[in-house]
Amino acid sequence: MKVALINGSPKSKQSSSEVILKDLQSCLSKDIEIVNYSFRKSFLIKEEIEALFNFDVLVFAFPLYVDGVPSHLLNCLCQIEEASKNIKDKSITVYTLVNCGFYEGHQNKWAINIIKNWCVKAGFEWGQGIGIGCGGALASMSGIPLGKGPKSSMGITFKSFADNIHTKSQAADVFFSLNFPRFMYKIIGEFGWRQGIKKNGLKVRDLSRRL
Ligand SMILES: Cc1cc2nc3c(=O)[nH]c(=O)nc-3n(C[C@H](O)[C@H](O)[C@H](O)COP(=O)(O)O)c2cc1C
Repeated sequence: MKVALINGSPKSKQSSSEVILKDLQSCLSKDIEIVNYSFRKSFLIKEEIEALFNFDVLVFAFPLYVDGVPSHLLNCLCQIEEASKNIKDKSITVYTLVNCGFYEGHQNKWAINIIKNWCVKAGFEWGQGIGIGCGGALASMSGIPLGKGPKSSMGITFKSFADNIHTKSQAADVFFSLNFPRFMYKIIGEFGWRQGIKKNGLKVRDLSRRL
């Protein structure tokens, strides 16, 4: 079995999607051939698109952008959809993990539905979607083992998600947040915003400035 793990975050490093795929990979059988891709661009070359049609499973992990799919990734999906019209025998199952800045994992529902609809258009089988809340914190949690502390629920969800991938099964979407108190996530998030704006030469009050 061949599985493509596709990181759809535009970040070159420290993306939550990268941590998510690394943790998922640790749950996948060693017998599987896994190839990692990073779609940080909005255009795929012909060879890259053709290579994707040789996989049994495509797993996308990407951040939620304005309740949807980041535009660069959407462009890549449109290209794959166009190319899929020329491929007769497709037996590809698609799984998707979307992480978001909001606390609640169900915020990712609409982005997952977009990928489901894309599967219909491109002639792929839909597998399962996972919506992860508190995603902003994940990028700094690469050292925390899956299944432990804030990654407890993630461990349980990823194990059954990996089982579904192994058997190319379809399952209901799952939405969860990291095991982290909501108020703490908010405090840390707001601290991050204040640090970030100062680093970019602006003042904290500029965070609420109307453009
Ligand atoms: C342009 C942009 C739009 C975003 N839109 C949303 C959104 O609609 N809802 C949300 O919960 N988070 C939103 N976020 C936050 C990201 O989903 C969040 O930071 C995510 O953890 C980034 O994942 P990554 O590190 O894999 O790129 C947005 C971030 C950016 C940069």
